[in-house]
Amino acid sequence: MDEPRTSGVRADEPGTAGVRADEPPTSGMRAEVLRTAGMRAAGLVAGHLDGLASRPVWRPVPDDELAWIAGQELPETGRPLGALLEDAREHILPYPMGNGHPRFFGWVNSPPNPAGVLVEPLAAALNPSCAGGDHAGPHLERTVVRWLAELVGFPHPPGGGLLTSGASMATVICLSAARQRAALADGWDVRRDGLSGRAPMVLYVTEEGHSCLRKAAELLGLGARNVRKVPVDGAYRMDPAALRRMIAEDLDAGLRPFCVAASAGTVNSGAVDPLGEIADVAAAYGIWFHVDGAYGALGVLADDAAPHYRGLDRADSLALDPHKWLGVPVGCGCALLRDPGAARAAFSLVPSYLVDENAGELGWFAEYGPEQTRPFRALKTWATMSHLGRAGIKRLVEHTSGLARTLAAMVEQAPDFELLAPVTTSIAAFRHTPRDRDLDALNRALPYAVQVRGNAFITGTRLGGRDALRACFLHPDTTEADLEVLLEEIRLAAKVL
Ligand SMILES: Cc1ncc(COP(=O)(O)O)c(C=O)c1O
Repeated sequence: MDEPRTSGVRADEPGTAGVRADEPPTSGMRAEVLRTAGMRAAGLVAGHLDGLASRPVWRPVPDDELAWIAGQELPETGRPLGALLEDAREHILPYPMGNGHPRFFGWVNSPPNPAGVLVEPLAAALNPSCAGGDHAGPHLERTVVRWLAELVGFPHPPGGGLLTSGASMATVICLSAARQRAALADGWDVRRDGLSGRAPMVLYVTEEGHSCLRKAAELLGLGARNVRKVPVDGAYRMDPAALRRMIAEDLDAGLRPFCVAASAGTVNSGAVDPLGEIADVAAAYGIWFHVDGAYGALGVLADDAAPHYRGLDRADSLALDPHKWLGVPVGCGCALLRDPGAARAAFSLVPSYLVDENAGELGWFAEYGPEQTRPFRALKTWATMSHLGRAGIKRLVEHTSGLARTLAAMVEQAPDFELLAPVTTSIAAFRHTPRDRDLDALNRALPYAVQVRGNAFITGTRLGGRDALRACFLHPDTTEADLEVLLEEIRLAAKVL
């Protein structure tokens, strides 16, 4: 009974008793095996999500478990589904990253929305490639991309966007479109000619812009030295006057300014750049206006934050991650483009074996980005958005933004904490300031010291030249009591550092 079956389903699975190992199972038997194991998996999923809040937020993987996880050899013969689930229960589920827990405040990692979790196996069961074609996946992707654009008030012509692995890939797509548009405007084709012998193209970001912007610039052959850091104001927002000056200087120097990338929600402090003023500068110089709203674009749904987002609808492109604030299970990003033709001009390449006479005017998604085989990201996004509804998404954004404001107020009232930036979205940047300590060294050491205690999870950064703590709120179940726990955990961790 040790031989794997053709389907990978073993005869010794529950529900298959009496099936000979050397016979391929009928589909009925496969369904029965999957049904039994699937119900068990559903129990594990529900049990995991249900028990999260009462377990440590995070704990290091112990050495023996690490040896098991990382040291396994590929089994010679296939193993039954039940054994795989048992292994997952014992060795995988107990060691999460922590982002499902209501006291996880690290980086920008949300808990998974249960509706998104629910449909993941359906996407795997269908297992399409959403490169294009006439099946549910690509059609549903058009719907959720439209929903995302409408949700944040971004213009959406048909075909104006696609789902990606995350915002890093969305940024590559948007900056590729910008680069090709600039080249075509100057009478050449970057895809045909490459970049050599041309005036260097210049990208404008701030120190607070996400590292994916520079990575994209490097990947696109622009060179990190041609990524300008525009100064920020006291609230870590891009200074539009400085941007204007820098573009003019680069033009005088014979360079080719091609794109400004603003942030709608920086990862350090949640700052939103002055989008309207940046749009004015971009329009004045005819350069592409990109907005990184990977984390923060949804912040526009909070009534008191909405004015900060004025001008978002003037961008040429917007990166927005459903796998962040929305809680769509990882990974799902989205690139939204005002002119769908710009992405197509940067990527479309249809060899004879991919020609689809029935594709219609918009063609295939694979023509708008570098991925050919594309997973069914739309299903979990659709499920999450439908389950929450517009009102539920707004409530989530307002609840989590409110927590950041409350933490900021608590920090400002506490004699041993200092707020480092105004709160615009759901991130608060601050630091612990007990007397007679080296504050940079202390705040640099604090995140890990807090994490290993297991009661809260926070990460650090450098902001305005100082080591800082930052808490990002994305979990619908986080309460104000959790904020008290966080500050107390920081104090306790600091005492033993
Ligand atoms: C503001 C911002 N931009 C871009 C990214 C990159 O997104 P991804 O990790 O989905 O590629 C992140 C990730 O945290 C982010 O917070």
